[in-house]
Amino acid sequence: MPDAKPLTSLDEWEDFVGDVYSTPLKTQDQFRKYDDPARSTVRDFYRLNHQYQTLDFAEKKRAEFTGLNRKELTMWEACDFLNELVDDSDPDTDLSQLQHLMQTSEAIRADGHPDWFVLAGFVHDLGKVLCLFGEPQWAVVGDTFPLGCRFSEKIVYAEYFQANPDCQVAEYQTLTGIYSPNCGLRNVVMSWGHDEYVFHIMRNFLPEPALYMLRFHSFYAQHRESAYEHLMDAHDQEMFAWVKRFNPYDLYSKQPTPPDVDKLRPYYDHLFKQYLPEKLHL
Ligand SMILES: [Fe+2]
Ligand SMILES: [Fe+2]
Repeated sequence: MPDAKPLTSLDEWEDFVGDVYSTPLKTQDQFRKYDDPARSTVRDFYRLNHQYQTLDFAEKKRAEFTGLNRKELTMWEACDFLNELVDDSDPDTDLSQLQHLMQTSEAIRADGHPDWFVLAGFVHDLGKVLCLFGEPQWAVVGDTFPLGCRFSEKIVYAEYFQANPDCQVAEYQTLTGIYSPNCGLRNVVMSWGHDEYVFHIMRNFLPEPALYMLRFHSFYAQHRESAYEHLMDAHDQEMFAWVKRFNPYDLYSKQPTPPDVDKLRPYYDHLFKQYLPEKLHL
């Protein structure tokens, strides 16, 4: 298994999706607009992601990580742990992981949304600790997509799926593949990454709309392009209204000034107590 690190930081991917999804995109050609040499790291990252995210890989990673038996941490300890992920290339201008989380949750709070929505914003990228458990970038971040069925052309850099071994499995080449039409996303295996992982960390604690936001926040092919309607059931459709509501806070809440963590701490202490156990299982 390759463990190349094409991205200088995970934020590089976040910045890319912020640009690329700033307007509705209809064709792969429009993605090419972003395909300049400065973005070659992002392209290399997607090449690996699309090549190695197979159904078998995602099922194995789910089994490996969702037992949640690696660490027991308070929420603040988990944030400190996540903050070990730093961008060595440009430490002065980038926000820490905690600051990105808090800017997201504070923007949600400023708009008067329910407290569980604020909490979803605060925890949404906690799954990136996968990097600190030694997982390669392509198995932590990147757009997510269903496995076991045909890859949509609407997924960014879809041409790189040609190198994915799942493209050689006849059963996976139809629109619904191993699934029945409109079976519901709870029955679908998504590509493995920080979204699926944080969903499992939080699954017993947050209301369902929040869990959908966590689990599907990088599923751009659906929440931006509606490319997987054929796997969604009516309940998914209802819940995706929340996923879509969440997405702009993730992409566009970045401010150059970091939030005042110490000042905001009491509010978050109270929020964590309301919903979360003392120690989180990672
Ligand atoms: Fe994320
Ligand atoms: Fe994020």
